[in-house]
Amino acid sequence: MKKTINQALVIFGASGDLTYRKLIPAVFDLFMNDSLPEGYAILGVSRTEFSNKQFRKRMKEGIRQFAHYKEAEEKKIDSFLSSVFYLSIDTAKGEEYIYVKKKLSELNKKFNLGHNYIFYLSTPPSLYPIIPKFLYGQGLTLQQKGFRRIIIEKPFGHDLSSAIELNKQLQEFFQEDQIYRIDHYLGKETVQNMLVTRFANGIYEPLWNRNYIQHVEITAAESVGVEDRGGYYDGSGALRDMIQNHLLQVLSLVAMEPPNKITPEEIRYEKMKVFRSLRPLSKTDLKKNVIRGQYTEATVRGKHYKGYREESNVKPDSRTETYAAMKIFIDNWRWEGVPFYIRTGKRLPTQVSEVVIHFRPSPQRLFKAAEGTVHSDNQLILRIQPDEGILLKTGMKVPGSGYEVKSVNMDFHYSDLNDHYIPSAYERLILDCMAGDNMLFMQGAAAEVTWKFVQPILDYWENDKDAPLHGYPAGSWGPDVADDLVEGKENTWRYPCKNLAEDGIYCEL
Ligand code: BG6
Repeated sequence: MKKTINQALVIFGASGDLTYRKLIPAVFDLFMNDSLPEGYAILGVSRTEFSNKQFRKRMKEGIRQFAHYKEAEEKKIDSFLSSVFYLSIDTAKGEEYIYVKKKLSELNKKFNLGHNYIFYLSTPPSLYPIIPKFLYGQGLTLQQKGFRRIIIEKPFGHDLSSAIELNKQLQEFFQEDQIYRIDHYLGKETVQNMLVTRFANGIYEPLWNRNYIQHVEITAAESVGVEDRGGYYDGSGALRDMIQNHLLQVLSLVAMEPPNKITPEEIRYEKMKVFRSLRPLSKTDLKKNVIRGQYTEATVRGKHYKGYREESNVKPDSRTETYAAMKIFIDNWRWEGVPFYIRTGKRLPTQVSEVVIHFRPSPQRLFKAAEGTVHSDNQLILRIQPDEGILLKTGMKVPGSGYEVKSVNMDFHYSDLNDHYIPSAYERLILDCMAGDNMLFMQGAAAEVTWKFVQPILDYWENDKDAPLHGYPAGSWGPDVADDLVEGKENTWRYPCKNLAEDGIYCEL
């Protein structure tokens, strides 16, 4: 288990939803798992007025709802909360940061924190450049006595130029190795397991290249709509919200070369090489290989779902995409000519994030497909969530006379492990930051290079009035033109259903 030294976690934007749903429950789970150091304190900072007591009461509700250990004894939660404090300031005003400094020095004495502080920015992005400046103004970014680290929530920039600008602004006040840019997908156990699947097993890696792999699919489907986040989402869309960050990060782990060692430097170096090898999208690619869609109203099994444009805080004529799919290529030795298909969307039939490796078929079809089935390629499915696990689809002889083949599943579920505690992504990432391990965080350069890759799509969609936006009914798998992206007569996207071990076309919403 990772060793952490005494320290404080200062959360800016503490009255917000993320703190309540994710951050405090994650730190509480760390506490329950004995991962916190002996001396620690959490200081929530926000504009809303709360006393310590009121803040703790709200955090307790969050823990009871969202923590893994939500059923913990009351006295355990109270003991954890006795190290949680709140400070109300106007975070946009530099002169108020003196109170942060005073509060920290008080907590420092009380809990023997060694002047080690993590600042977590869970605020609107407009404050990302401002808070570091004011912390610097109070000398709180300098690492003379203890360590000082800063965690930045996504979105990291809105496009390429804003990401470059944000990097510059942050690096004015923090060194690059003090900056932890969060991408919660990297905190997911199953995403990290991709490295282990690939590099701890002798059987996959020899096949993991253009000679044996026909194409790769990366899907992040959600059945929920935009819920109460219309205001944010309408200015963002699926490409910015999911692809530029989460799905390109996943792609880099699927496609990277074996690192020399498992260290942050080596892994980040290999991932960067993948990002740099992404084939830039030409004008023709933008028209043919990138698809956007927006969900429209539909009634599924008697239940009515609003269209995106009817959601609150969404413009009634919005052209924001709630679905995006694309075919892209990695121009390097290993992947030349192998299409990577990426798709994500809201209000799809089910919630699933997975990577599907489609292997090339055997050179000859010696056997017939069993009646009622079609020949299917060998697929390795890395299920990120839910029902975390790995599934290998392989052809098997149908018992009896003759030689008919059908596809069967070799299926591993994390839930079958005796001890299958899977830490939440935030639990893992906060612990890593506390221990000073930035392997699962994004480098500034990676944020820029991924924005650079998606920027032509953003420009095309924004500036070309003829760029199509396809409607798709809520509860369907997105615009049907997305099927045309997939090369090869027999190939389609995988359509996983609620029962994720099986394929099928019909799904419940
Ligand atoms: C967030 C996006 O980063 O990731 C959300 O802003 C999305 O729109 C979420 O719902 C998906 O995360 P997960 O962990 O539920 O797949």
